[in-house]
Amino acid sequence: MNIHFKENKLFFEGVLLEDIIQSHKTPFYLYSQKVISDTYKNLENILSSEIFFAIKANPNQAILKLMKNCGAGADVVSAGELQRALHAGFDPRKIIFEGVGKSKEEIEFAIQKKIRLINAESIDEIKLINKIGKETNAIINIGVRFNPNIDSNTLDKISTGKKTDKFGISIEQLNEVISLSKSSDHINLKGISCHIGSQIQSTAIFGKVFDTMKKTADLFFSCGIVLEYVDLGGGFGINYEKNHNDLDIVNLGKLVSSVFKNVPYKVSFEPGRYLIARAGIIITKILTTKNNGGINFLIIDAGMQTLLRPAMYAALHRVEALNDLQEKNINYTVAGPICESSDIIAKDIQLPMQKSDNYLVIHDVGAYGASMASNYNSRGLPTEILVNENKFSIIHEEENISEIIERDTIPDWL
Ligand code: LLP
Repeated sequence: MNIHFKENKLFFEGVLLEDIIQSHKTPFYLYSQKVISDTYKNLENILSSEIFFAIKANPNQAILKLMKNCGAGADVVSAGELQRALHAGFDPRKIIFEGVGKSKEEIEFAIQKKIRLINAESIDEIKLINKIGKETNAIINIGVRFNPNIDSNTLDKISTGKKTDKFGISIEQLNEVISLSKSSDHINLKGISCHIGSQIQSTAIFGKVFDTMKKTADLFFSCGIVLEYVDLGGGFGINYEKNHNDLDIVNLGKLVSSVFKNVPYKVSFEPGRYLIARAGIIITKILTTKNNGGINFLIIDAGMQTLLRPAMYAALHRVEALNDLQEKNINYTVAGPICESSDIIAKDIQLPMQKSDNYLVIHDVGAYGASMASNYNSRGLPTEILVNENKFSIIHEEENISEIIERDTIPDWL
């Protein structure tokens, strides 16, 4: 547990929370370096596979450098993410480029940077990469992302592996992919991948994915295509209601080693959430309290501009008060400051009595928190801080409103 009371004072790792709060404007993100590196090492040990951090979950340079130092590769989905990964020092041979819509320029950029694999997500894209190879007289290493038509049993908005989802190439087009790759002289098909969705809670679903991918790989070999890499995606779920009971990765590790025993290719995963969600919290201040229609509202400074997940997916995040040692006997709805009714962070939660200027903690926001934040309502992006034992450092400066205004230009006819 990274946030804890010691002698009635609240600490985040070895840092007294009060010290950070006094010197930084809320809302801000706090990340625990220890939780990130412990989670990474544990997952790597259990899966004994290569791990590519899906950097969309948290693309901050300090976080990426930490992941890289832990031994991770990077899974990127745009040229922007690729630049972030390169800038943080990832070896291009440990970067894979997925993504359902890549422009020609993005593909050319990835080729120029000599990354491990560009994973094509459509027949058109395979043809385009082959064409670029022909134009530049090169042979380009690619992977193919398949859509295995497996229901990940997660929210529709984060499901990616059913046949009606926009991602990957339908598994029904397997033979077409094989013959296209054989007849295309400027690509070298070295890998296959899949990712069926995010926040998956059941290892049985991964069992289905592993079986399908193993069979698919066997088919490639039987057609004379030697694969070097099989990537099994990310999607490992965490339990946002509790701070335990996440996807059973020990079981997942057993499954992967039994299905892919002694295979002649490298097996990898590309998790995002699992590696970092638990490492982050938001500290937010109560701006005002009110009772509307019998509901006790706490209006806080962190809203959907800081953490979009509750408004976008009705996602749950545990919210606690910094005066948590007092009796939790009041029912509150915690809402952000944004002018949207969907800007609710948590409904009907029990907290001790609150008043303006008190602080709350929002838990498990390390993944898809800051990376999905916006400056809607012209509230700048929040500060992010990394804590390492008893030290802390800003890793992302709060966005300043004058910088935002300066990016607009007024035409000379106005
Ligand atoms: N690989 C690919 C190709 C992906 O599209 C994703 C996530 C991942 C890996 C990592 O998935 P993870 O291990 O983090 O579940 N914004 C949503 C999650 C969207 C995930 C999109 N793709 C949320 O806040 O829940």
